[in-house]
Amino acid sequence: MTTDAATVDLAALGEDFTRNPYPVYAELRARGPVHHIRMPEGHEAWLIVGYEAGRAALADAALSKEWRNVSPELGIAPLSAGITMLSADAPRHTRLRKLVAREFTMRRVEQLAPRVQEITDQLLDAMLPSGKADLVDALSFPLPIAVICELLGVPFLDQDSFRSWSNTALASTDRTERETAAGQLSQYLGRLLAQKREQPGDDLMSALIHASDDDGDRLSGEELMGMAWVLLVAGHETTVNLISNGVLALLTHPDQLAALRADFSLMDGAIEEMLRYDGPVETPTYRFTIEPYDLGGISIPGGGQLVLVALADADRDPGRFPDPDRFDIRRDTRGHLAFGHGMHYCLGAPLARLEARIAIRSLLERCPDLSLDAHPAAVPWRTGMLIRGPERLPVTW
Ligand code: HEM
Repeated sequence: MTTDAATVDLAALGEDFTRNPYPVYAELRARGPVHHIRMPEGHEAWLIVGYEAGRAALADAALSKEWRNVSPELGIAPLSAGITMLSADAPRHTRLRKLVAREFTMRRVEQLAPRVQEITDQLLDAMLPSGKADLVDALSFPLPIAVICELLGVPFLDQDSFRSWSNTALASTDRTERETAAGQLSQYLGRLLAQKREQPGDDLMSALIHASDDDGDRLSGEELMGMAWVLLVAGHETTVNLISNGVLALLTHPDQLAALRADFSLMDGAIEEMLRYDGPVETPTYRFTIEPYDLGGISIPGGGQLVLVALADADRDPGRFPDPDRFDIRRDTRGHLAFGHGMHYCLGAPLARLEARIAIRSLLERCPDLSLDAHPAAVPWRTGMLIRGPERLPVTW
C-alpha cells in the first residue's frame, strides 16, 4: 500500500474536460481505481473510477458525509445551507430521510402525472410558436422547478434569482462566487421559510415547518433549512439536465430518435439509457475519510480527505456495460449508478423519471422535426465536476 500518488491536474485540462470528461476518466480507470486529483474547482481530492470500486465506495459507511469530519487543510466549505440528509451519516440521516420519504414513493409520485403533463403542455404552448428556443430556458429548467415548488407548497418562489444563485453555488469554479451565491441562497431560503410559516397550507413545507416549530427534536432549525435546500436544489438542478442531456443524446443519434418516435413504449428504457450514458451527476456530493481507505494498492489517508466517486465513469465502464460509449435505448441498463447507490440513493428518482418521461415524449410528439440548432461541439457546458449538463441547448423545429 502506498499513499504516494502523482496528482492528476484536471483543472489544467480546462474546457475540453468540461465538454467531454469521459475519455479522461477512462484513461485513469485503465491505470487503477483511485487517483489523487486537482479538481477544476481548484482543491485536491481522491477520485474513484470504474464501476465496482465506485459502487462499493457509495455504500461504504467508512466514508463519512458529515462536514465535521473534513480536514481543515483542504479549505473547502459545504455547498449547501443548513444540515441536509446528503451531508449526514446514520442515525441523523435515517431520521431526516424518514421525515420526507413517503412523499416520494412511486405511488405518490405517479399521482402527480396529470399535473406534470399540464405544466409541460403550458410550457410547450408558450414555446412552440417561435420555431426555435433554448430548451433549457423553455422546458428543462421551468418544469422541474414548478413541480417541486408545487409539491413543497411554495408557488411564490422567485425562479430567476433562485436559478442563478443555485447554478453558481453548485457549478462555479470560483470559490468566492460559489460562497457568495450559497450565502444569498441561504438568506433567500430563510425568507421563504418565514413566508411559508405565515401562510401555512396543507403541503410538505408547512408539515416540515410544523415538525421543526412544534416538535424541535424531530427537526432542528438547521435541519429545516437543509431540507428546504436539498429538496429545492436537488429537485431541480439534476432533472433539468436529465431532460437536456437526454434530448441532446437523441438529437445526436438520429437512429435512436427514430426508433423511439416509432415506438414510445421504448421510453422508460430510453430514460434509463440517458441516465447511464450522460447522467446529470458527474461526481456526487462529497465524502470524507475517517480512517485510511485502501483501494487498488493505494491508501487514501484518514483524517478528512475528500473522496469523489466518478458516477460518469462507473456508468461507462465496459466491464459492466459492453460498448459503453454507444447510446442504445434498448440496452440493459440495470444497475446504473446515475441515482447513486446505498443509503443516499436518490430520494427523487421516481419524480425525476416521471418528469423526464412526460417532458421528452410531449416535446417529441409536438415537434415532429425537432433538431439541434447548433453544432454539438458548440453547445456550452456547465463547469465544475458535480453537475453535468448544457448551459443552453438551442433547438429548432
Ligand atoms: C435526474 C434527476 C436526478 C438525479 C440524476 C439525481 C441524482 C442523485 C444522486 C446521485 C444522489 C446521491 C448522492 C450521493 O450519494 O452523494 C441523490 C440524492 C438525493 N436526491 Fe437526487 N437526483 C435527481 C433528482 C432528484 C429529485 C427530483 C429530487 C427531489 C425532489 C432529488 C432529491 C434527492 C435527495 C433528497 C437526495 C439525498 C438522499 C439521501 O441522502 O438519502 N433528486 N440524487
